[in-house]
Amino acid sequence: MTALLEAEGLSRRFGGIVALDGVDVTVRSGEVLGLIGPNGSGKTTFFNVVTGIFAPHGGTVRFAGEDLTAASAQKVYEKGIARTFQRSRLCLDLSVFENVVLGNGKNLDRGIFHALFRRRALAREMDAQLAHVRALLERFDPELARDPLQATAGLPMIQRRRIEVCRALMASPRLLLLDEPSAGMTHEETRRLMDDILAVRAGMSDLAIVIVEHDMATIERVTDRCVVFNFGRKVCEGPYRAVVADPLVQRAYLGDE
Ligand SMILES: Nc1ncnc2c1ncn2[C@@H]1O[C@H](COP(=O)(O)OP(=O)(O)O)[C@@H](O)[C@H]1O
Ligand SMILES: [Mg+2]
Repeated sequence: MTALLEAEGLSRRFGGIVALDGVDVTVRSGEVLGLIGPNGSGKTTFFNVVTGIFAPHGGTVRFAGEDLTAASAQKVYEKGIARTFQRSRLCLDLSVFENVVLGNGKNLDRGIFHALFRRRALAREMDAQLAHVRALLERFDPELARDPLQATAGLPMIQRRRIEVCRALMASPRLLLLDEPSAGMTHEETRRLMDDILAVRAGMSDLAIVIVEHDMATIERVTDRCVVFNFGRKVCEGPYRAVVADPLVQRAYLGDE
């Protein structure tokens, strides 16, 4: 498998806190990489730096052979990296459809001329989008697809997470970053969500996924490989079994450093 994302020596500080301290992370095309480590070890910061939310203070990011170091969030997204956030970013007042389409920033940039004078084209585009959204939702849950115009507010957490993943997938990314997708869900819901994500991915053979997740059973089940962070550094990487057996990893989790 070829390298899709290559982060080298990536660093980021916040005041006196070194959130990322020279990490090297490679993600191969089509793999599921688990990013694990204690709270505060830099996992979310890694996502934020890769996706252009924060500029790195050192290091480089290459994606599909292109230098994306310090590229804007919009540019990174257009190049094919999509993500979900640790805290839900759904607008509960909007419908399922609207929430999913909000993610499709590629299509939102037409300006007022388009809105005023190309109404028929716009309507056609909306129909196409609705079909696209419906098809995506269908792959997760027929229930969601049946009524994409329903309000988001009344839906259980697992449905909201599915919506967030659909939103990220709307752009047909080559790399999907999932930041603690199971937060606020039961074990059973987590298992179902992961089943869904894997099933959807089965139809997107070269989609790579990086997942930050505290539930080790999930990590073991869904990942091809893991990278472990502690205090902003990469302490270990390899298959799940090798990684959890590593004394450095055990010490990181027991917190006796
Ligand atoms: N926007 C920010 N402003 C200030 N400090 C931050 C910010 N983001 C992260 N940090 C700090 O950087 C460290 C790593 O945080 P984070 O990447 O969120 O860890 P994780 O996702 O592994 O729990 C923590 O000490 C955190 O407080
Ligand atoms: Mg985090």
